[in-house]
Amino acid sequence: MNPIIAGNWKMNKDPSESRVLIQRLLELAGDVRDRDVIICPPFTSLAAVSELIKNSRFKLGAQNMHWERNGAFTGEISGLFLKSLGCEYVIIGHSERRHIMGETDEMINKKLKTALEIGLISIFCIGETEKEREEGRTEEVILNQLKKGLRDIESEVHKIIFAYEPVWAIGTGKTATPRQASEVHKFIRKQFSKKITILYGGSVNAGNIDSLMAEKEIEGVLVGGASLKPEEFTRIIKFQQM
Ligand code: 13P
Repeated sequence: MNPIIAGNWKMNKDPSESRVLIQRLLELAGDVRDRDVIICPPFTSLAAVSELIKNSRFKLGAQNMHWERNGAFTGEISGLFLKSLGCEYVIIGHSERRHIMGETDEMINKKLKTALEIGLISIFCIGETEKEREEGRTEEVILNQLKKGLRDIESEVHKIIFAYEPVWAIGTGKTATPRQASEVHKFIRKQFSKKITILYGGSVNAGNIDSLMAEKEIEGVLVGGASLKPEEFTRIIKFQQM
């Protein structure tokens, strides 16, 4: 399996800015062979990015979706619409959605189920806050997120990509050490009999990517801020084996 390098653009880049960014990225890294690159722009840029990457090896992902396929859900987006725009992936349960938008484990569970049903690959985010880590509750929090998020779909975990994103490391410049990340990845992996894929996310940058990817537990990364800088993201995509 190739390492997975996913870029979460969050609420950045309008359609024309997205075109500029993806074009530059294609020039710099479009030739990469041994990495799976997933680009997750905002909803409003999906069509533009989809069009530009269609003949490349880059894949498209969305940052969220609703659990219903359609209906009276003003302002929400169906996973089927995402598929029709060329998305193969969708980020589910990102900490910004949990903590800022009030998304619950139950909502996340419904979204994961729908994504499985309609054939979108979820990038399922889990992770503890700084306070929870300080209180020594990291494993308990992760276990709870896994248990509730995966209710009734435990047998399908091999079809989901997990992303361990400690909340204290997101956008803070405080990266988990490769060892801290590795320990949690091991803990997550231990919960399942099937082999699962686990990415790390949280302040990944050009300076720490090589040491993170040197950990065998880390099978890829979910990158926020640094994925908006084409040169830096290219360095991340083309990380060097240590
Ligand atoms: P940063 O890389 O900006 O810390 O964001 C990580 C993240 O939330 C990716 O989903």
